[in-house]
Amino acid sequence: MDENNTRPDSEQTTAQKTQESVDNGQSENTGKTKKRSGFTSKVGFVLAAAGSAVGLGNIWRFPYLAAKYGGGIFLLTYIALAITFGFVLMVAEIALGRKTGASAINAFKKLNKKWAFLGVLCAIIPIIILPYYSVIGGWVGKYFITFLSGNGHAAAGDNYFNNFIASPWQPLLFFAIFITIAFVIVLFGVEKGVEKTSKILMPALVILTIGVTIYTLTMPGSWEGVKYYLLPDFKKFSIKTVLGALGQLFYSMSLAMGIMITYGSYMKKENKIESSVHQIEVFDTGIAMLSGLMIIPAAYAFSGGSPETLGQGPGLMFVALPKVFDTFGAVGGGILGALFFALVFFAALTSAISLMETVVSIVMDKFKLSRKISSVITYVGTLLLGIPSSLGFGVWSAVSIKGMTILDMFDFLSNSVLMPIVALLTCVFIGFVVRCQTLTDEIELNGRFRWKKFFNVMIKYICPLCIAIILVTSLLDVFGVFNI
Ligand code: TRP
Repeated sequence: MDENNTRPDSEQTTAQKTQESVDNGQSENTGKTKKRSGFTSKVGFVLAAAGSAVGLGNIWRFPYLAAKYGGGIFLLTYIALAITFGFVLMVAEIALGRKTGASAINAFKKLNKKWAFLGVLCAIIPIIILPYYSVIGGWVGKYFITFLSGNGHAAAGDNYFNNFIASPWQPLLFFAIFITIAFVIVLFGVEKGVEKTSKILMPALVILTIGVTIYTLTMPGSWEGVKYYLLPDFKKFSIKTVLGALGQLFYSMSLAMGIMITYGSYMKKENKIESSVHQIEVFDTGIAMLSGLMIIPAAYAFSGGSPETLGQGPGLMFVALPKVFDTFGAVGGGILGALFFALVFFAALTSAISLMETVVSIVMDKFKLSRKISSVITYVGTLLLGIPSSLGFGVWSAVSIKGMTILDMFDFLSNSVLMPIVALLTCVFIGFVVRCQTLTDEIELNGRFRWKKFFNVMIKYICPLCIAIILVTSLLDVFGVFNI
């Protein structure tokens, strides 16, 4: 074990260099306007990191995956992974960021030149996620406008959603509007204002979600949904459940793509990493679970007991919720729906801005361009990359692998292929190249790391091994070598 070794020399010099660069206020071009010592308090750090983590992943993606992969068994798998893999990886990334004082692209390089490629690999992921994330953001925008303009009743109709995503222009238009708003905010550097507003709107979203959930649970049939969602049926367990849960874990907690490394680089040395991670995880998982509890019982309540919508995939939220709002009548439902989708829109926007910032800073670093030009390149690139994802539900629906639409393919590529690879390599890098102690020393700067032994064993052996098995199996499955 590496706990009793002394620090390797190379690592000490790196630490010194890092310290110098922090002292000089040298910017890593992470795209943030903050200085490295950005977060003055632990609460500030936790809220900012949780703010980045909470987004469409929690509200839109988690419920539909839970519905698709067997309800309770998915939930159980997810929670088990969150307190083991999720905890360990988030601690590792934040510690890596704080130790090096650098964003992902430089953090790996600083500790070992040969591993610079891992920073680059991290950088590819937000470039893939941002376009399709914005397509979904556009759908949310469309639903907001629909409810606002008094067409909520139509949105509750059975084919409304499918007709909308299959039409060629509308989803593209809303996608373009969504990404343009994010772009304008990033271009004019007014993210701070958005962040402040979201600190009020996010709690409002949580309260509204609780309200809608309680209301839905008074409807006949909804408790069947609660049972499906909360009681694990072990017969439904398969390696796909684990892969789905693992990809969702990375996505939802913004792990395995360098985001938490950047956040860690802003964290003060006095603040405790371990307890911060617990808080971020509780926050993120709590909101995801709550969203599931709102959406899945709603799908049951309107299906007479056999909710075909459960396997619906990305559309679940858009199909299930309008029916709930519709029960409030034209005016009440209109207001409620508009409010709900406005709040979700905001949550999506803050995440998209954060993703865009990341991509802009990568373009700036890579091509040594100004922030303005990099923002324009990112914007145009995202627009172009998003088009296939959007059209994949209509004109280009013939393009599919194993039933996956183009959007699903991007989603699969980032969450189920690249993120596991990055996570795996990060574990190997920490466990065998820089050694766990480098990070556990950083974590223990202010108090004991209670899960140190667990952390070491997980990082070195269990995480890389399990991730490798899951990854290989799922790839073999997709490429048709065998079916799982
Ligand atoms: N975690 C975000 C969500 O749940 C999505 C996301 C993934 C993200 N990576 C990110 C957001 C990076 C901001 C930055 O929706």
